[in-house]
Amino acid sequence: MIIASNFKTNHTRKSTKEFIKQVDNFVKNTNSDVQTRIYPTATALDNFDCDKSIKVGAQNFYPTFKGSFTGEIGFEQLQEFGVDSVLIGHSERRHILKESSSLLVKKYDFAKEQGVEIVYCVGEPKEVREAGIDAVMAYIWEQFDGIDLDYSKLIIAYEPVWAIGTGLSASNDDIKEVLKRLRKSIRKPLLYGGSVNVDNVGDILDIENCDGVLVGTVSWTAEAFIKMIEAAQKNKEK
Ligand code: 13P
Repeated sequence: MIIASNFKTNHTRKSTKEFIKQVDNFVKNTNSDVQTRIYPTATALDNFDCDKSIKVGAQNFYPTFKGSFTGEIGFEQLQEFGVDSVLIGHSERRHILKESSSLLVKKYDFAKEQGVEIVYCVGEPKEVREAGIDAVMAYIWEQFDGIDLDYSKLIIAYEPVWAIGTGLSASNDDIKEVLKRLRKSIRKPLLYGGSVNVDNVGDILDIENCDGVLVGTVSWTAEAFIKMIEAAQKNKEK
């Protein structure tokens, strides 16, 4: 089970440090072995001394080690903080920041060369969902074009665009169907993301083929995030 928090553009350096400390204390005190991921803003990255089940990763990077790319962050800068997990293909980067499929493939290949864990995000917009499950899957498969699905450190996050930040999670049946279809050809951990909260996380983790969640809004308090880690722990013990 993987419980991941994407901070997006939230938290300061100071509050990130406090958040991670609280989560780390909880994990250590309870001997939790749930795989935990936290993706703070780039300005809050640091060398955190955490339990080995917690990885602090990067939400974004430019596919270069270093160079002249004003405003961007390369792997030299990420390595300074021991970052070995990155998000690629998040819908906000695809749609708001206009990252093209070819840039995503470059980022993917670069991160793969660096040997880091990649959480690759896919998901359909509302109009595609309304066209039915075959349209949804066709859309998602296109997002995998050029992506090496055999990469050993790959994790997939299925995040329907219309469910992100809207408070409207996909139904458990919808999630189940997409994960089932992905599972036919993908042997990697499959996460769900989109309006996951403390109340629905248990049921979502129960869905067949669901290996965890990638959470935004509700995970931004350590208390709620810890509750989600507890839910994953309970799920493992079932
Ligand atoms: P919300 O949990 O706010 O819907 O965001 C999900 C997400 O985008 C995680 O990457």
